[in-house]
Amino acid sequence: MSVYGKARKITTHVLRAMKEHNEKIAMLTAYDYSIAKILDGAGIDVLLVGDSASNVMAGHDTTLPITLDQMIYHAQSVVRAVERALIVVDLPFGSYQGDSKTALESAIRIMKESGAHSVKMEGGREIKDSVERILSAGIPVMAHLGLTPQSIYKFGTYSVRAKEEDEAQRLREDALLLEELGCFALVLEKIPAQLAKEVSESLSIPTIGIGAGQHTDGQVLVVHDMLGITKDFHPRFLRRYLDLSTEINNAVQRYIDDVRTGDFPNENEQY
Ligand code: KIV
Repeated sequence: MSVYGKARKITTHVLRAMKEHNEKIAMLTAYDYSIAKILDGAGIDVLLVGDSASNVMAGHDTTLPITLDQMIYHAQSVVRAVERALIVVDLPFGSYQGDSKTALESAIRIMKESGAHSVKMEGGREIKDSVERILSAGIPVMAHLGLTPQSIYKFGTYSVRAKEEDEAQRLREDALLLEELGCFALVLEKIPAQLAKEVSESLSIPTIGIGAGQHTDGQVLVVHDMLGITKDFHPRFLRRYLDLSTEINNAVQRYIDDVRTGDFPNENEQY
């Protein structure tokens, strides 16, 4: 029976307790008020205002173009909708990699201007100073290792990361470092399930997987993918719970027909 997962308000402490009591954490992305309200009402634990907004909201090929101002706009919309879930906001590409002072300024802007509860950052030892400085200001940080989409031009492809032992070892070490620094959770994206299991068992902070198998402490999906709004994205890890794209297409075709035939609006739909 889920105890912590039924908490009135999800905090970083609740997430840690969920891990301690083997309760899985359910996380989804959200970028706007209306969807965030539905997800929060359904009982989702964590809402990630992901920089995947760059892909699914704005139509870019990568997450790189989205700006800090745009992330804050999405985060403000989500914050207005949410009563229970913990809200995490991605620090976008370019807003934290340069130096720790800029990183802290970016994180403070997100917290002050959106009212969100925490930030997420991609990377390990190479962003240590920025992570430390943000944490020292009292801002909770969710870390992100494995396939980190802001580095897509370094990786070259979106294929599984850390299959080779040297990359796997670096990831293990980075995970421990990020926990030591004080991050409250770690996203593991597209890595072998066995490595994700090992890392999850080695940490006391929760791990949240996407394409990282069943042994992480929680799971995250991009909401547009799991609802079937996106059509052309078919990774093995994605389970589609709806075919909303087809549903919307059918509804819009019926609406077009109704308008063209004069069936809409009828007598009861007018003043
Ligand atoms: O931006 C995003 O949606 C993410 C998830 C895939 C973890 O970072």
